[in-house]
Amino acid sequence: MEEMNPWSSQPTVDLAKLFSDFGIEPIENVLDLLPEVPFFMRRGIVIGHRDYGQIAMCIRENRPFHILTGFMPSGHPHLGHLMVMKEVVWHVQQGGNGYITIADREAHAVRDTSWAKCEAYGREYLACLYALGFEGKTYFQSRNNRLKDLAFESSIRVNYSELQAIYGFSSETSLGHMMSVITQVADILYPQVESIPAPTVVPVGVDQDPHIRLTRGVAHKLRMFTVEEREGYISVRSKNAPSGALEAVHARYPGSRKYEGHVDIHGGTCADVSATVRGIELASGGFGFVTPSATYHQFIPGLQGGKMSSSIPESTISFSEPDEIVKKKVMAALTGGRATLAEQRENGGEPERCPLFLLNLFHMVDDDRELAELRQKCRTGQMMCGQCKKETAERVLSFIHDMREKMAAVEHLIER
Ligand code: TRP
Repeated sequence: MEEMNPWSSQPTVDLAKLFSDFGIEPIENVLDLLPEVPFFMRRGIVIGHRDYGQIAMCIRENRPFHILTGFMPSGHPHLGHLMVMKEVVWHVQQGGNGYITIADREAHAVRDTSWAKCEAYGREYLACLYALGFEGKTYFQSRNNRLKDLAFESSIRVNYSELQAIYGFSSETSLGHMMSVITQVADILYPQVESIPAPTVVPVGVDQDPHIRLTRGVAHKLRMFTVEEREGYISVRSKNAPSGALEAVHARYPGSRKYEGHVDIHGGTCADVSATVRGIELASGGFGFVTPSATYHQFIPGLQGGKMSSSIPESTISFSEPDEIVKKKVMAALTGGRATLAEQRENGGEPERCPLFLLNLFHMVDDDRELAELRQKCRTGQMMCGQCKKETAERVLSFIHDMREKMAAVEHLIER
């Protein structure tokens, strides 16, 4: 099993292998639980998850949950960031408490972005989010003291060999890089400290899974208790609970048996006991974390194929680019067309391999029937790339105009 590097610019390769190596579940397994399946799951963009079942149940039963993600402000926001933003907005609409972290510590430590640039780019990300309908809390890592305290608390539970195994860190890795990693762990746990312990979902690309794994481990290690269903009883085990806390569990369940380091409870459900024990943990000064969940989406390809990234300007479009450039980039995009027009009329194009079709699928065509029609016309050779590019450019332009207008209108929502 190889380690994964979230800071690499290589696109991740074999997803199926990645999933089986790292234990990510296919998203199909939980779709039945959702009252409404969002387009990004329906269209195969979000493909995997960890523990998303508990989020789907919260949506279904109207119970509290958090949704958090983060953006590194090392460049302008662009088309490649839209997916995660839409995922957050959708989950907020489903009742989630929204949180956005601007990872300026990470940008400064890993990408060498100046603090002034972090500030300016960070505000652009927030403008995009509000323009897309985000409601909730936002913060910059560097200015959130509670977050930094939580990062320190988390750091006590992580040692160097773990970072080495997860990220391939070496003796050359700077302490700042490691601090930005533990800050991200704290980001993911933060909603449960700022608000109440509750399931938290973090929508990310597969490259961020190392952070998710590390955080899930830390969340577990920071618990005072584990609660487990055994044959005929429920076992509450102390990991590092103060003795008074274990006694409180015992007192709360008359008839329970208290042993060295654990209490056995007969009767009751595991879910109820877990909730009660979490309450006792909180009252005893613990965190009571629910292990966070994640969803994993596929990356939208760059306009020229390959990776979409702000370090390759032709690969993407940011929301501040002039119309002429936007048009040019779309018209110059790689497509799934054939070598000659005649061959394309005969055999049709290959939409699944076409960056422009995928741009439409990800973001530009909301209506499923319209998208199906587009795919069909391409496959059957009814529509050629030139016409499709023109229509796509119009869609992109109208999307960007709308975005710009909204971004200007939400300026006042962005924190100072
Ligand atoms: N590391 C993420 C990136 O490279 C940014 C990030 C920081 C983040 N904190 C987070 C993502 C918390 C998800 C959750 O873009």
